[in-house]
Amino acid sequence: MAAPSSTCWPLDSHTIGKHQVLQSYMQAWLPILSSGFPRLMFIDGFAGPGEYKCGSPGSPIIALDALIQHSYKKHISSQVDFYFLEKDESRINHLTNLVKTRFPKLPSNVNVHFIHGVFDASVTELLNQIQLQSSRQLPCFAMVDPFGVTDNAMDTMARVLANPKSELYISFMYSFINRFKVTPTFENSLDSLFGCPDWREGRNIADQEKRKEFFYNLYKQQLKRSGATEYGGPHCQDSKPTNLS
Ligand SMILES: C[S@@+](CC[C@H](N)C(=O)[O-])C[C@H]1O[C@@H](n2cnc3c(N)ncnc32)[C@H](O)[C@@H]1O
Repeated sequence: MAAPSSTCWPLDSHTIGKHQVLQSYMQAWLPILSSGFPRLMFIDGFAGPGEYKCGSPGSPIIALDALIQHSYKKHISSQVDFYFLEKDESRINHLTNLVKTRFPKLPSNVNVHFIHGVFDASVTELLNQIQLQSSRQLPCFAMVDPFGVTDNAMDTMARVLANPKSELYISFMYSFINRFKVTPTFENSLDSLFGCPDWREGRNIADQEKRKEFFYNLYKQQLKRSGATEYGGPHCQDSKPTNLS
């Protein structure tokens, strides 16, 4: 899929599945983590505009609803900070207005932060600031749902995973990796994405399924090296979410 240029774009079936997983995961993660920690973070690193052309909610709204509509809401007493990061100005503006319209009065334990910036730099800065405030990383659920292979470095995943209670929900962008694997201008991005140069071996694998599996397994291995301990995602499938904690 080519990245859309309009502020909002049509919803596709794989996004519906991704949103269902996000919703049910957040509904479980929030009360479980809230019982042990006074403050939690949700980072939507590639937040988008918050809605699709048809009006269906995007991941930031789904995450907020998972808390605000939660049947155990009154038992979720932790402070929950939602950070919505987005590179595109029209999309972050759209999202900001949408959240203000849909949630005119947020519960007192919920804070929403809108960050117009790029994922790697913004998450690094955010985690540095939080570490200064609290001397250790907070439990975090981070959704990493990019359109391509740039700006979602393995080093950033390692920063999130520095807290063993943190979880990553990653869309593994196989079709972009496969397309850009022989494009010289994307070599640095792929080095950062995988956190190693070994992805180049995938260029020599002729069989499509084996190549896909190679890239997927390498990425999984690198996440484990970065601190991920458990794997809860599907097998190698194009653009399907990978969930590691
Ligand atoms: C796949 S869409 C996100 C969809 C959203 N997560 C949802 O499920 O509703 C990817 C978004 O990332 C934004 N984006 C692209 N590069 C980015 C970067 N380096 N940092 C942050 N956001 C970026 C795009 O503008 C786009 O809105």
